Parts: sequence; structure tokens; C-alpha cells
Amino acid sequence: MKGILALLALVVAASSLENFSGQQVLRIFPSDEAQVNLVRALEDEEYLQLDFWTSPSRVLLPIDIRVPLHHLQSVKVYLESNSIQYSIMIHDVQNLLDEEQRDMRRNRASEDGRSTNSFNYAAYHTFDEINAFIDNLVSENPNLVSKIQIGSSYEGRPLNVLKFSTGPNRPAFWIDTGIHSREWVTQASAVWFAKKIVTDFGKDPSLTNTLNQMDILIEIVTNPDGFVYTHKSDRMWRKTRSPNSGSLCVGTDPNRNWDAGFGGPGSSSNPCTETYRGRAAHSEPEVKAIVDFVKSHGNIKGFVSIHSYSQMLLFPYGYTNTRVPDHDELNAVSKKAITALASLYGTAYTYGSIISTIYQASGGTIDWTYNQGIKHSYSFELRDTGRYGFALPANQIIPTAEETWLALTILIEHTRDNLY
Ligand SMILES: *[C@@H]1O[C@H](CO)[C@@H](O)[C@H](O)[C@H]1NC(C)=O
Ligand SMILES: [Zn+2]
Repeated sequence: MKGILALLALVVAASSLENFSGQQVLRIFPSDEAQVNLVRALEDEEYLQLDFWTSPSRVLLPIDIRVPLHHLQSVKVYLESNSIQYSIMIHDVQNLLDEEQRDMRRNRASEDGRSTNSFNYAAYHTFDEINAFIDNLVSENPNLVSKIQIGSSYEGRPLNVLKFSTGPNRPAFWIDTGIHSREWVTQASAVWFAKKIVTDFGKDPSLTNTLNQMDILIEIVTNPDGFVYTHKSDRMWRKTRSPNSGSLCVGTDPNRNWDAGFGGPGSSSNPCTETYRGRAAHSEPEVKAIVDFVKSHGNIKGFVSIHSYSQMLLFPYGYTNTRVPDHDELNAVSKKAITALASLYGTAYTYGSIISTIYQASGGTIDWTYNQGIKHSYSFELRDTGRYGFALPANQIIPTAEETWLALTILIEHTRDNLY
């Protein structure tokens, strides 16, 4: 009886998961701004239910769009009739997700959740598993690691930050991952960073030197409601899960919700789009918690917000073409960081200000932190460049984390050695 009930529960749980069978991700290559605008026009056709994995951009980057099966033909006809080039990047999104699910099941059967040593860093994990990891890491390293809850999500989940510290009243370096919930390699990488710090402290001279002067803060699951939703309902969920009055569409883009050019170009006022900015700046509790924390801390000297995918290291601004006063310094440090990153596996990154490298985006995290006086504000777009996109296979988690850590180390050391 128990077995049947468990099976039934499994069937119910499985059937509530969105099925992406037959859906494709098209990679579109606009040749000029007129073609970019033709692709952008598709964004307003809500009935098509297109999911823009990358946004239309003036710098003519390829545009990746996940297209539901029943609209594939009409989208392809639209592109062809406008002579817009495209290729099929992912032939069947569900095939990748089935593989991901098999990996997670295999991992769950083999893992012992009681210690960070038996944690499988080469696998994707649920919110509960990551929280267990956090608690284990704290209890195993009581003199180095603590957990701070900086607030609660819209649905009431804790917003946990790991604090690595060896003394009181230190300047701090902040790292957050997963503010866009579907970017699973980011949360997984942060788990690896956290373990790396406790492993290397006292052994690696530079990291030890860093932690003797500065704290490191890591928020692994920055958008917990969205993250749980990616596991239980829709693997491709990006936004928060707060409702919008007057609309059936749920969620705000938490990377358009900050008070830095809020409401400007590169953000949407339509709650049904992936870049909906929210009804007001800092309307999302997940954003407001960081705003309040940064202000009350008052001594955060470096701030890195990590996304995927595209392989980019970015710095402010996103909302305006105006160069930040520290442009040359941030540019030089970024170049050094991506060179270190590439030294491990040859992974090629581009870098530069957000608006010049990727596209105009208003209300973004690091524009706000920079304007708060945190000079070293950066954002990553981790692997890959689109072969798998958000469905990056779990066997790329550790290589991604390792190479990213080399770049982060450059950013952290530069901040440490140039405290201002
Ligand atoms: C998704 O839908 C396809 C086609 O209808 C079906 O064959 C497949 O079993 C479904 N997969 C899941 C995980 O429900
Ligand atoms: Zn993102």
C-alpha cells in the first residue's frame, strides 16, 4: 500500500512538471538593426509564448528563443519570409531535461546529506539540499562560517547568506547566484565556491591573507521561490513568484527591479514578459533584502552578481551609455580575470560594460551597487555560449566553478589590495 501511495505521489509530482517535448531553441542571427526589430516584435506577440533566452541587442548578438512546438512552424516561416538567418540550437529541450532528471535521481540515491564531504558537487540540487549543505558547512566550520538570514522571499522562504569571517568589523566582498532561478549552474557553482573557501583557508596563502582582512559573503539561492518552482513546476522559470495585480502573469525580473535607471529601456512594463521590472523599484522582497543589507553593512567593497549563460564578465553601466568614472580600472581588472579564467580550460569570455557588451538593461543589480559606492561591481554570465544554454549538463558544474573561481580570485585580490 505504502509503495502504491509513493508511486502515486511520484506520478502526481511528475505530471505537474511542465513538459518541453518537441520544443526547440532557435538561434537567430540578425544582420542589422531592422532585423533585430523584427525579432523584437515577436516578443509582443503573447500568444506565441516565446521564451527569449537572450535578448535582442543592438550589438547584433545572436538571439536564442525557446519556441513551443505548436508555434515552431509559424516562427520559422516568419523568419524565413523576412530573410532572417537562424539555426536550430536545441532540437528538443525535453531531451536535455530528461537527462538532467536522470542525473539527479542517480545522485540522490548515492548521496549522504549529513556532511559537506559526502555532498556531490558534480550534481544539481534542490533548495532543501542546498540549505542542508549550508547548515552542515556552518556546523563543520564554526570559527570561519556563519549563516545570516537577510530576509524572506515573497512565499516566506529564508534568504540565507553564508559569511566567511575571521574577525569583527571587516570590509566585505559579496557574491550572489541564482537571482534568475533557471540559471542552475550558478547556484551549483556557489556551493562549490563555499566548500573551496573552507578547504583552502589556512593552506592557500592568498585566500588566507584575504580572509585575514576581509569577509566573503555568498548568497547561493538569491531567488528561492523561483528556484523551487524550477524544480517542481517549470524548469525554465526566471523571475520571482510574486503576483501582479491586474494580470494573470506571475513574477518580476529581479534584475530589472533595482533603483538604478529603474523603468528605463531594456526593461518591460508588461508583467507577462521575462524582463518585467515590477511595479516599483525594490518591490521584490528578494531585492529589498539585499538593498537593506548592503546599506546597513556599509562596508561592502566588492559585489559580484552571477548569471548564466553567454560567457561574459560585465561591469556598469547597463542603463546608460555614460561610462563609469572607474571604467579603465574595471576594464583592466576584467581582462585580467577572464585571462585567468581561460588559463584552466580555454573557456573564452568577452568583457566590458553591460550596455556596450550585451544590451541596454535598466534597473540591474550592479548598476545600483556601483551607484552606492561599491566600485568593484561586476556580473558574470557563466557557461556556455548556447549549445545547452540553461540546461547545462551537470558534468560541467565543477569545471565551470573551478575556472570561475580563478576569475573571482583576481577580483577579490584586486579589491583586497586596493581597499578604498
Ligand atoms: C512529455 O511529452 C511527451 C510527448 O507527449 C511524452 O512522450 C513524454 O513521456 C513526456 N515526458 C514527461 C517527462 O512527462
Ligand atoms: Zn540571468
